[in-house]
Amino acid sequence: MIDVAWLIDPIYIVTIFFFIIGMYRMSHPLTARSGIVWAGAAMLIATLVTFLTPALSNFALMAIAIVIGGGFGYFAAKRVPMTGMPQMVALFNGMGGGAAAAISAVALLGAADTTTSTLAIIGGLIGAVSFSGSIIAFLKLQGWLRPRPITFPGQQIVNMAILVLAVLSGAFILFTPAWLPLGVAAYLPLFFVLALAFGVLMTLPIGGADMPVVISMYNAFTGLAVALDGFSFGTPNYAMVVAGIIVGAAGSLLTLQMAKAMNRSITNVFFGAFGATEEDGATIQGSMKPIEADDVAVMLAYANKVIVAPGYGMAVAQAQQKIKELADLMESRGITVKFAIHPVAGRMPGHMNVLLAEAGVAYDKLFDRDEINPEFTGTDVVLVIGANDTVNPASHRQGSPLYGMPVLDVEQAKNVIVLKRGQGRGFAGIENDLFYRDNTRLLYGDAQETVAKIVSALKKL
Ligand code: TAP
Repeated sequence: MIDVAWLIDPIYIVTIFFFIIGMYRMSHPLTARSGIVWAGAAMLIATLVTFLTPALSNFALMAIAIVIGGGFGYFAAKRVPMTGMPQMVALFNGMGGGAAAAISAVALLGAADTTTSTLAIIGGLIGAVSFSGSIIAFLKLQGWLRPRPITFPGQQIVNMAILVLAVLSGAFILFTPAWLPLGVAAYLPLFFVLALAFGVLMTLPIGGADMPVVISMYNAFTGLAVALDGFSFGTPNYAMVVAGIIVGAAGSLLTLQMAKAMNRSITNVFFGAFGATEEDGATIQGSMKPIEADDVAVMLAYANKVIVAPGYGMAVAQAQQKIKELADLMESRGITVKFAIHPVAGRMPGHMNVLLAEAGVAYDKLFDRDEINPEFTGTDVVLVIGANDTVNPASHRQGSPLYGMPVLDVEQAKNVIVLKRGQGRGFAGIENDLFYRDNTRLLYGDAQETVAKIVSALKKL
């Protein structure tokens, strides 16, 4: 039989280049799709080449696992709506963490030395926390578990105690004292149960508004666990190490950026139970005043400058094409049109950018929160299309559960038109006093239909 095992490492190195090219291309929306293809191809090649490993057995079991896992992933990803993407990311990420934990368990049962066992213990702990934490994040995002923080007295102490016990049981596996009657295998289940429990308990008190930060952090955890596992079988598996480090680094950067966008520190996200305080009961003055599409069209016809602030509702309504049509129409009439993009608008990082790019809105029309906030004063009309939490002025009020979250200051504009279907609240479930302001009018209905009505009314003017 020809020895082909020597091919494994060189091919892994090639896949590493593919991963890096993929990651680089993912950094811009225009090239992101091809970035996914590069990284996917790298993963496929790395998986296939692993089958060249000498003395590999259990081919049938592996084939069954790949068909079940790959089939589920393929069909789930095909069917998921754009708005369900965060839960899907949380679930897939959790599976990665779980797989890393399982690899650690196998590595520990056959570990040769303390170094590899230590790496496997750390990888196992992080992977298991990422697995159970991501599942809780999935359940919260899917609405199958209360999205608001779930808290109980002494929670932080209980969480810390569980973590300490998990680390201690990991230490027992590493240095099984001679006086203990049982071997490594006896402590493995205890170690993993404690690590899984810690992931669950750590995620329960985290509220809806912090979920983007949490998901990206578990993403970084999974990457780290995979990288550590890459060392835990004696000879390093370069593809696992490098792919894991790339995911870990990218996830960490995204976590920091998300936390910055929400004006939150990481410790605050995990220990602050943001959104746990009930609403401060501040009485909101004013009433919600409806408006018709024809009147909005008249208002736009007389405007010099209009800013569009899209949110999750734009994604639900799939209104981006109609919005692009409206923006083109306004520009053809000499109106300056800009788009205000809040970093956590929608349900995933870059959600609004992706949808608007898909509809053909030029990038130089999109402005992030810090760029656009000074421009609202002096803007004739702001069209808030399916946004709520990201435009809630309550975040400026001490005592509000949203206090401190930077938002788009749309209320500074001369007129604010909010497009929404009814009295629905935002993701954080907080009342929005923007809707009651004197300069705000509400255009009720599905955003795609209401924008279409504005377009046809404006064409007639
Ligand atoms: P949200 O606060 O989620 O509000 C969405 C609004 O859209 C609601 O007021 C809803 O009111 C309206 N809406 C829903 N369907 C609509 C439709 N078909 N037509 C018109 N309006 C519709 O939106 P946001 O301002 O984008 O804030 C995002 C929130 O999600 C933040 O709290 C953020 O922390 C959280 N989050 C973000 C991410 C990332 S990374 N972006 C991930 C997870 C969570 P009606 O029901 O009355 O129509």
